[in-house]
Amino acid sequence: MAIREILTIPDARLSTISEPVETIDDELLALLDDMLETMYDAPGIGLAAIQIGVPKRLVVIDTAKDDAPPRPHFLINPQITWTSEEMSTYEEGCLSIPDYFAEIERPSACRVTYLDRDGNEQEIEADGVLATCVQHEIDHLNGVLFIDHLSKLKRDRVIKKFAKAEKRKAVPA
Ligand code: NI
Repeated sequence: MAIREILTIPDARLSTISEPVETIDDELLALLDDMLETMYDAPGIGLAAIQIGVPKRLVVIDTAKDDAPPRPHFLINPQITWTSEEMSTYEEGCLSIPDYFAEIERPSACRVTYLDRDGNEQEIEADGVLATCVQHEIDHLNGVLFIDHLSKLKRDRVIKKFAKAEKRKAVPA
């Protein structure tokens, strides 16, 4: 297993629409392990493959509390098949947008189908923080970031801030 570099905005690769996975082989399982290790190291509760530059429809999630044993979920080709009409608001963050948080409203519950590591079809019904996390990660597979749910004014302000920081890094010292 290895810790991979996490892409941050304004990296254009984060807008990529990821491709479905065709075969689950050792290489893919190793990639999932790397994603989990990278997420735990960050630390975060969810990571999509595109965040380490791999445009495949893969998500890892672990929303277990700090003092609880780890409970990783590996989602291959996840698809939302139902969302509740009821909405809830959570303060979201993203490993690709470090140190920025904002309240985002999403459906409170959702149902998701996916393939597990053995290629078996699975379905989960998620609510609470897991529902928010699953929707946030599946957004990544479609090139959507949580700041895309903000008003254009707010989103532009965040992107500008990160673009400026990027430029500062590029100036030779
Ligand atoms: Ni994210």
